[in-house]
Amino acid sequence: MITDISHRRKFFAEGNVYLPHLVVIEKIIEETPVVRTFHFNFKNEKLRQEFTFESGQFAELSVFGIGEATFCISSSPTRNDYLECAVNKVGKVTNAMHRLGVGTEIGFRGPYGNSFPLDFLSGKNLVFIGGGIGLAPLRSLIWNVIDNRDKYKNIDIIYGARSPTDLCFKYDLDIWNKDETINMVTTVDKGDKEWTGREGFVPQIVEQAAPSAENAVAIVCGPPIMIRFTFPVLAKLGFTPEQIITTLEKKMKCGIGKCGRCNIGNFYVCRDGPVFTYAQIKDFVSSEY
Ligand code: FES
Repeated sequence: MITDISHRRKFFAEGNVYLPHLVVIEKIIEETPVVRTFHFNFKNEKLRQEFTFESGQFAELSVFGIGEATFCISSSPTRNDYLECAVNKVGKVTNAMHRLGVGTEIGFRGPYGNSFPLDFLSGKNLVFIGGGIGLAPLRSLIWNVIDNRDKYKNIDIIYGARSPTDLCFKYDLDIWNKDETINMVTTVDKGDKEWTGREGFVPQIVEQAAPSAENAVAIVCGPPIMIRFTFPVLAKLGFTPEQIITTLEKKMKCGIGKCGRCNIGNFYVCRDGPVFTYAQIKDFVSSEY
């Protein structure tokens, strides 16, 4: 699952891999009361034109004077005239980001990490399973797959959140729901007065939907508790550990395999991941997930 990153070195600021590039916030989307999507672009015209990344990769964003934090890139490389990251307000940097407005300059370094294995996914039935803000990295891959629809077979998307207010990317959910080539199920743990959709935890809904494991790959991302209960359901449905892919989130600092902050078992999430098969991580993931 490790991918060659040598071709990306040209995007690192000259001479210092920790030096960020300047990006300008062009749009801010209020996803939930605590999640905002920042839509931004490079200040430097050449970088705007030449920057590339792959679905599943992440970046370090910095708020000047406050610090930097890691975010997956939630936009798709097939729509590369902008970049997007969804930011959950949980710490110093993310709180500072939520105070920023359109036009503000922030720092960007990356892309880092490996990516979803598109060649392996090609020709397969894809089952996307997401929870809460865990839809962010899946969303990059989902749009990537939709933009190359003829390369893939059936697409199932099962996405849930604690409540209707906590559903992220509602504008995408609407589009995927209407797309006749996609089987989309949205669920919430508990609905409100207006909610007419499904209720139930994501693993239960996966069990009810019972996607076939035949020529399929499940791509899972969400809160640890959702992941922990979803893996056994997928196993029951016949998915082998090699047929389950996930993307891990860990506290990171350098993002390039130098500081040792993000190890899980024998892996550094920033360097060897964040995308892993369940086969790669199953022996040590249960203590963390
Ligand atoms: S964040 Fe430093 S080694 Fe992974």
